[in-house]
Amino acid sequence: MSLLRIKGPATSANVGPGYDIFALALANPYDEIEISLIEKSGVEIEVVNDVQNIPTTPKDNTAGLAVLEVMKAFGLAQGVHIRIIKNMCSGGGMGTTGASAAAAVFGVNRLFNLNMDYNQMIEFARRGEVASGGSPHADNVAAAILGGFILVKNYDPIDVLKLDLPEIPVVLAAIRKSQRTTRGFITYEIGQEKLKAQMARCSRVIHAIHTHDMEEFGRAISKDFIHEPVRGAAIPGYWEIKQKVIEMGAWGCTISGGGSSVIAFCPPEKHDEIENYMAAAFSDNPNFTRVYKTFTSNTGVQILENK
Ligand code: HSE
Repeated sequence: MSLLRIKGPATSANVGPGYDIFALALANPYDEIEISLIEKSGVEIEVVNDVQNIPTTPKDNTAGLAVLEVMKAFGLAQGVHIRIIKNMCSGGGMGTTGASAAAAVFGVNRLFNLNMDYNQMIEFARRGEVASGGSPHADNVAAAILGGFILVKNYDPIDVLKLDLPEIPVVLAAIRKSQRTTRGFITYEIGQEKLKAQMARCSRVIHAIHTHDMEEFGRAISKDFIHEPVRGAAIPGYWEIKQKVIEMGAWGCTISGGGSSVIAFCPPEKHDEIENYMAAAFSDNPNFTRVYKTFTSNTGVQILENK
């Protein structure tokens, strides 16, 4: 085995109230990486379909940084070439940076037979996220590796729980944020009442998944007191559009990951209508790219080719 082609799915982090602890994987879109051994040490990065100047210096690239961390920890002398094939826009809250890091760590684990378990892979992949937003958040990379809905049970040491989801229809309006990251504006100082409400909502999300109650899931994810107030304010028309999407029959609607994308979960019979509405509603936003009509997915990173 000298080359692996691996699919890294889009992921939507936070899922409403679970800032940095919840995420879920989507069936579409996805990025791919090809990883192969080279005759020298270190990491080489190549990016295909790049319209956003993704860094190719390994330490500045999420996949490169994550793999450098693996190489340091395992003392690997042989290097790898990583070809990143981008299908998702970056800076859009779809976890593209995490998808690359997750797929690259998964690939290097296979190429060198390192026998890492999924928590170890998530630990290295999240270190790669520092190259993008400056923070080693684990939510996107965990969902990219495992698929399904993930709960980060513990950060130090990293410990992640995966819950399988029914195939939930999703509409995702991909909108690039105007700033690289908005994390610096988010505060945990939300006061006692909101803190209690936030904890209750997180519990409701988990219970709704266990009971397959998608209406309750949607209600529970549609309010957040930590990141949504900051990020919602930066998306023109967000609150009105969200309200309308819910009135149209969506189970829930929130900001996807770090924004500015907006994600709605809806019954199958509303999928087309909500897709059309969100495409029209965000069309004036200069950072709007397109709408994805997709589903949640219980599949994480996948080997597409092994040669
Ligand atoms: N939890 C992270 C954040 C996800 O909200 O910044 C980024 O996609």
